[in-house]
Amino acid sequence: MLTLSRKVQGVEESQTLALSAKARSMKEAGVDVISLTAGEPDFPTPRHVKEAAIKAIEANFTHYTANQGIPELLDAIVKKFGEDNDLHFETNQILVSSGAKQSIFNALQAICNKGDEVVIISPFWVSYPEMVKLADATPVIVKTCADDGFRVDRRRLRQSIHPKTKALIINSPGNPTGVVYTRSEMEDIAAIVKETGIFVITDEIYEKVIYDGSRHFSLGSIKSIRDQVITINGVSKAYAMTGWRIGFMGGPAKVMEEAAKVQSQVTSNPNSIAQKATVAALLGPTSDLEMMVREFHRRRDLVYKSLSSIPYLGVQPPGGAFYFLFDIQKYYGKRFKNQLIKNSNDMARYLLEHHHVALVPGVAFGADDCLRMSYACSMTDLEKGVNRIKQGLEALA
Ligand SMILES: Cc1ncc(COP(=O)(O)O)c(C=O)c1O
Repeated sequence: MLTLSRKVQGVEESQTLALSAKARSMKEAGVDVISLTAGEPDFPTPRHVKEAAIKAIEANFTHYTANQGIPELLDAIVKKFGEDNDLHFETNQILVSSGAKQSIFNALQAICNKGDEVVIISPFWVSYPEMVKLADATPVIVKTCADDGFRVDRRRLRQSIHPKTKALIINSPGNPTGVVYTRSEMEDIAAIVKETGIFVITDEIYEKVIYDGSRHFSLGSIKSIRDQVITINGVSKAYAMTGWRIGFMGGPAKVMEEAAKVQSQVTSNPNSIAQKATVAALLGPTSDLEMMVREFHRRRDLVYKSLSSIPYLGVQPPGGAFYFLFDIQKYYGKRFKNQLIKNSNDMARYLLEHHHVALVPGVAFGADDCLRMSYACSMTDLEKGVNRIKQGLEALA
């Protein structure tokens, strides 16, 4: 029978990618579109990282490697986790994959059974619920809202955990909210995790993109829950290496072993050249990273000032990552010509089609009252983009 997988049909296509594609095709058709949808730094990969890759190619380091990752990269990751995060792993507790996305996928495949539930805090990164579904488990969403600064309520989080709950996914600094959990919030979460005996997948991919002198705190460094925590990280965001596709995780050896089995049957090792480049990124100078974060910080402050001047827009300065998630629900119910704007999809479509600025509808992140704007683009584009948002909303008001 030529029927397709019901499981896969139940999975959404990544809406962030879908909207970028629409903006790109308008651009290709000659429309001057400002795209503020990017999920990646607009900086080049550092020179010393590129040189390590060139050296790897010249040395013919271009074949299969160990499925788990090359020994020198495993050592570099152990060192990184120890020094940056107070996480102390042996190399058999690390798995390198083709992006943090694959790391999370592998982790979920390794721990979930049919009927399990996985708790996700909304607004969430688009892929979490869909990856949970692909692991035959059910996503359970705990909502947070703009008025509470998108911070999770301890009591509601505890109430979402039942005997069927297998894991909780947390993401700090968060995409799309930019929320950075404090140490004391992490301790509250750890207490719940300890009491309920579940796994936590902590996605720390934006760890280095953090502002205002705050410090990233790794949940897994809390000793009492160490054996329940799977820590995800990678080089995409910190080292402007999204295209190289290297992510990694550290956690209980048994989980890593099962996750490695999944990987060995699906992709095998991540790219050999990119692994060498990642060693250079993790062990090399950090001046490019520091420059990039300073620039994101500058843009964040300037954009926050402009966005704050738009009436009825709910906006807060993000503590990390490079996105604003602003609340536009006060504009719902307005019309442009015959088009009624009733949700974030309508609003994103309206702003793209009539004001040529592309943003991601919040519904993709479980936040239909909001739009996400990336500031990983030039200041010129940001200024133009914010003006277009302003004009678009004024035309509705
Ligand atoms: C929160 C979050 N986690 C993970 C990823 C995936 O990163 P990678 O490029 O390493 O697969 C992203 C990418 O946008 C992200 O925003």
